Amino acid sequence: MATVLGFYYYWTTSNHEGSAIIVKDGKILAAIEEDRITRVKHDGNIPVWNSIKEVMRISGVRPEEIDAVAIPWESPRVKYIKGLTEVLQGKPFKPKRLIMYPYWRLNDMNIRSTLNYFDIHAPIYYVNHHESHAASTLLTSGLEDSTVITLDRSGDRYESVGVWKAQDNEMKKLTIINGCTFGTFFAAATYAVGFKINDGEGKTMGLASYGDYSKTYNKIKDLLKVKGLKIKSKINDGIIKPRIDINDDRLFALYRHLKAEKNNPIIKLTRRYKNEDIAAAAQKLLEDRVKELVKNSIKKTGEARICLSGGVALNMKMNQRVREMPEVEEVYIFPNPGDPGVVVGATMLVCKNLMEQEGREFHNERMKHTYYGTGYKDKDVTKALEEYRLDYQKIKNPEKTAAELINNDKVVGWFQGRLEFGPRALGNRSVLADPRNEKIKDKINKYLKKRDWFMPFAPSILSEAKEEYFENAVEAPFMIMGFDVKKDKLKEIPAVVHVDNTARPQTVDKKVNPSYWKVIKEFEKLSGVPVILNTSFNRHGQPMVRSPQDAALHVVWGCVEYLIMHNCLVDAKVDLSKMRL
Ligand SMILES: [Fe+2]
Repeated sequence: MATVLGFYYYWTTSNHEGSAIIVKDGKILAAIEEDRITRVKHDGNIPVWNSIKEVMRISGVRPEEIDAVAIPWESPRVKYIKGLTEVLQGKPFKPKRLIMYPYWRLNDMNIRSTLNYFDIHAPIYYVNHHESHAASTLLTSGLEDSTVITLDRSGDRYESVGVWKAQDNEMKKLTIINGCTFGTFFAAATYAVGFKINDGEGKTMGLASYGDYSKTYNKIKDLLKVKGLKIKSKINDGIIKPRIDINDDRLFALYRHLKAEKNNPIIKLTRRYKNEDIAAAAQKLLEDRVKELVKNSIKKTGEARICLSGGVALNMKMNQRVREMPEVEEVYIFPNPGDPGVVVGATMLVCKNLMEQEGREFHNERMKHTYYGTGYKDKDVTKALEEYRLDYQKIKNPEKTAAELINNDKVVGWFQGRLEFGPRALGNRSVLADPRNEKIKDKINKYLKKRDWFMPFAPSILSEAKEEYFENAVEAPFMIMGFDVKKDKLKEIPAVVHVDNTARPQTVDKKVNPSYWKVIKEFEKLSGVPVILNTSFNRHGQPMVRSPQDAALHVVWGCVEYLIMHNCLVDAKVDLSKMRL
């Protein structure tokens, strides 16, 4: 047996949620993000104690059964040696890399003492951050031979892009680029158009569909160039610094803004051009340059099947453009491509190595779902509802009841099974609504989401109906790939179609999530439409709900009109369309 505990945390201040996972013989037993438990959004501070405890509890793995611990960062010693080597090679001296050493060592000690607390004494394996991103997508793709590409803002040092040729599950590194590229560029554009870095990149993508890229494309196109597997970049970390804090006093904020403008040439464009035009140009440049890199990578590897990961792969429009390339045969995007998911790669890789040392074969199987988090018993549900003094009734057919409520224009909180691991609610911690009613978006936004007007909602569709609704449809269970909606369906499901006539659907397979599939099927029986609107079950600014208590609290807050949790129905006794803010 090879049982590996993995966890992700951030070295300094947290800007991504931490996470933990248990993998046994190549199978994920449990995985969860720290902030789902602590209820502090993006909580990732060392030592992600809660998520480690939770994956141990869910999996039932005892401390003495853990054979190894995997961490998706290089070890402090390797970081230090590489930093020193760069200095000796004549590269610019980065004092931070050397000064940080004691801090990294301290964190290292924190990790060991945390493991001691859990009575885990297995060896710790540090895995390079980009290699971990790469393994996360390759080893869950079912594609043993493929081209693996990772794209993020920065991993160890300023590593931001990696390309591997995968053969028989072995990754041969072709390049890792140590410099700011796609991720930092898109963060800079995000900052320039007024959104928060590491949070608003999806908004920049959403806004882009409203703009005309041609107005500013030529002004930014030289910021990034691709030649072979090399990227010529005029981007550096200064482009996104300093960040403006809205709490700054006005004069100081002005000073910081002027300084930011000096570093970030995209900000200057905001004086003359609309934000949506700048966002459109940034999105187009990202798509064009990534496509070039994909094309060049295929030439080098000879493999037209692509595995993608890294935070930039959350950009579903870019993913769509890659999938549509004539050179590309298939694209697999790891469902949790940002940093909380990087732990999967490091842990899988360590597990694979242990299995091979034992003379056993690692089976690369396509990930079908992300339901690896906490699950609850019926008695936990009723206890939480009673705790929050919510009246409820037991129902015999929760799926049918949900479909009827959705068909009657109600906004329904839907809580079943185990929590999703990753950024998307995929039918276990979801808020559901009727996709035929465009105005339903206002109801959802009023108390629950408070989304910007240009941000679309996404559909869940019966897998067997995908060809009817989407051009070039393929199985897409993770809401991470864009598709063009067929012309004759645009008016049928307006609440889940973006202004550019695309959508990022979740195809729901009856075998993978029978209960959620049944909700959509029952809705189809009532409406003739095999599609429902699905958004994550969390109030704006909150992490996705995990426990029955979290869901009950959302009813108290008045975020949903009904809650169906296991076989309990709660009428929140609110009509969101009549509520005034
Ligand atoms: Fe990353």
